[in-house]
Amino acid sequence: MGKSISRFSCNKCGYESSKWLGKCPGCDAWNTMVEEPLEKKTAPGRRRTTEAVPLNAISDQDIRRLRTGRGELDRVLGGGMVPGSVILLGGDPGIGKSTLLLQVADAVARGGKTVIYLSGEESLKQVRLRSLRLDINNPAIYLLNEQDIDLLDGYIKEIDPELVIVDSIQTVYSPDISSIPGSVSQLRECTARIINIAKNSDKAFFLVGHVTKDGALAGPRVLEHMVDVVIYFEGEKNYSFRLLRGIKNRFGSTDEIGLMEMSGRGLVEVVDPSYVFLSPALPDSNGTAVTASFEGSRPLLIEVQTLVSASGAGYPRRMASGIDQNRLALIIAVLEKKTGYNLAANDVYLKVTGGVFLKDPSVDLGIAAAIISSYRERPLPSDTVFIGELSLTGQIRSVPFLDLRLKEVQKMGYKRAVVPGSASKNRVYRSDLEVLEVNTIEEFIDLIMEG
Ligand code: TYD
Ligand code: MG
Repeated sequence: MGKSISRFSCNKCGYESSKWLGKCPGCDAWNTMVEEPLEKKTAPGRRRTTEAVPLNAISDQDIRRLRTGRGELDRVLGGGMVPGSVILLGGDPGIGKSTLLLQVADAVARGGKTVIYLSGEESLKQVRLRSLRLDINNPAIYLLNEQDIDLLDGYIKEIDPELVIVDSIQTVYSPDISSIPGSVSQLRECTARIINIAKNSDKAFFLVGHVTKDGALAGPRVLEHMVDVVIYFEGEKNYSFRLLRGIKNRFGSTDEIGLMEMSGRGLVEVVDPSYVFLSPALPDSNGTAVTASFEGSRPLLIEVQTLVSASGAGYPRRMASGIDQNRLALIIAVLEKKTGYNLAANDVYLKVTGGVFLKDPSVDLGIAAAIISSYRERPLPSDTVFIGELSLTGQIRSVPFLDLRLKEVQKMGYKRAVVPGSASKNRVYRSDLEVLEVNTIEEFIDLIMEG
């Protein structure tokens, strides 16, 4: 016979121990260890319930993706929801998770399928109110105000939905565990149960997860490891734009970002993403430059703003929002070394419009241009886009997908692009776009400041 054992885990950080401890060795918090029962050990010689099958014996007919009705969400998911998978949607409270998922439920229901929407957070009246606002009235969406995860399976068997939405994972609980809903052991247990149901029933699951102040999903990262797909829904409260970002995806790339806008009638897709990241042209604004970053499979034109101002006594400040702080320091160091600008006596602040975080190194030239412009107090031509990676030696290095970037530059109505000259041999540029090539940072400064 198997024997039931239990372990203790920290509610805050997930640290595990075989005995109870007053202070968690993982995060130094007091009184956070709770007992959780472990599954019974399998008795030897137990009968198998699954069979090993050859790879090609699994029919590919079954592998179909369920569309969410939102192209931008499908893009981040890698083409839609995969049946049997569990998708975790994380985000700050009020960012629009419930709104988005209600709209997804509507799209799936319109496709003739049923959906279960488990709302542990809001009353059914509140969900109904939101649905009226969104003009959603589909009888194929079943609302459920149930927090006991053990009962979910029964509802799924009864209703046989294609999609199950659990809003949120922090509000459901398993009666087998003594700790409160939202604690690490409850999160882990409930997610494990849901994953089990998903795999056995071949339904797609969306779990809503709240994010703590420091940006991680509430509870430690246990959930991220367990589920198939993790998507973050981001955005600043003051802007209507929302960004969907894939963190993990077992069925696709995590480079894609999806753009949505919160309107009076729910979330709508952003048709022309580049508009989001450009502010309307202001004449004579020092320190702003437009660059083309590649996010996932598409180019986006993005505006960077910098402010270079004399620093007080002590260490000059470098502050970056939207790119890695170290990248900014590196670009400043190259500029200082190669141009003789006295940036060490200046504070440099940098901001990327729209709240994206840029990892593509080809925005270096745009950042450098903005810094130079602010330092020299001369505006850059507002019809020009700067694309290129800056090497430590001051060379402007070539970037991938230059053609696609230039296409976007032209589409957005810009007249000129400054690009790396290094790989220009037999390149054909578009006739109505002036393309200027630069090889080094010195050449670049001559071009934009003296030219
Ligand atoms: P909600 O989906 O409840 O956020 P979450 O589930 O992530 O906590 O979104 C709430 C916000 O969205 C709220 O501030 C009101 C706003 N909103 C709109 O602007 N338009 C709409 O059509 C809806 C339904 C909500
Ligand atoms: Mg909500």
